[in-house]
Amino acid sequence: MKISVCGKGGSGKSTIVTLLANEARTRGYRVLVVDSDESNSGLFRMLGFERPPIPLMELVGGKRKVQRSLKSGSSSGESGEGMRVMRQDSIKIDDIPAEHIMTKDNLQLVCIGKILQSLEGCACPMGVLSREFLKKLSLEKNEIVVVDMEAGVEHFGRGVETSIDRVLIVVEPSFESLQLAERVNNLSVGIGIKNIRAVLSKIPSDEIASRLESELVKSSIDTIGCIHYDTEIFHSSLEGVSLANGSAGKEIRDVFDSLISHSALD
Ligand SMILES: Nc1ncnc2c1ncn2[C@@H]1O[C@H](COP(=O)(O)OP(=O)(O)O)[C@@H](O)[C@H]1O
Ligand SMILES: [Mg+2]
Repeated sequence: MKISVCGKGGSGKSTIVTLLANEARTRGYRVLVVDSDESNSGLFRMLGFERPPIPLMELVGGKRKVQRSLKSGSSSGESGEGMRVMRQDSIKIDDIPAEHIMTKDNLQLVCIGKILQSLEGCACPMGVLSREFLKKLSLEKNEIVVVDMEAGVEHFGRGVETSIDRVLIVVEPSFESLQLAERVNNLSVGIGIKNIRAVLSKIPSDEIASRLESELVKSSIDTIGCIHYDTEIFHSSLEGVSLANGSAGKEIRDVFDSLISHSALD
């Protein structure tokens, strides 16, 4: 199963990705987290790794070459193990070269790539790489992929979600977050994506949760869970240490149950 987690910057995407990954591990799944948000700098720490992996962008020869060579299969100067892997029709987790994947027990992390030079322009090639990588990634029954998607909605336009089984939109209690959810719904209808569900994040009270839920219903988005504002989460982020499920454990278990239940994948 491939799950992507999207939403506004700062809404709690990386937190929910980490909580879901922890929960999936506890249940015995092999979990691959895909960092597709170029603005994330601490995801590896939240997951308990000492450093991030070398981005896949470098594996395929850098950003400028991605668009040109990834789809065409041309051999315009790019060779080597990395490009060969990306040109395979189907990629297994074990095919990813070791320096591009961090591993701790049954938790693994790959990173699509970050734009390091401001003059390099837009993030489009990253979207292409995310889309192609996620499409080609072929999973065993006990493997789950959780994608930490870039903030905003542009990835929908690039078709990054085409191979995703369930898109989770993280909604924090703010007007902007609700507006983004509505845009996501309008966009997804336009491109035929029906598998979007909301998870509420940083919720201060049940009353606020109900209000958000009814606003989301107006945008035809069902809510499958709620993570309350949690001081443990806040503190681990402040201290830059790995994130444990702790008091959010029960809430994320419910989200995970909904994700894996058959009726959720309609
Ligand atoms: N349920 C929560 N309770 C308290 N703080 C939270 C919660 N979820 C996220 N945060 C905090 O909000 C900030 C942004 O979260 P993060 O997951 O990095 O967002 P994003 O990945 O969407 O940018 C972090 O400081 C994080 O610790
Ligand atoms: Mg993040």
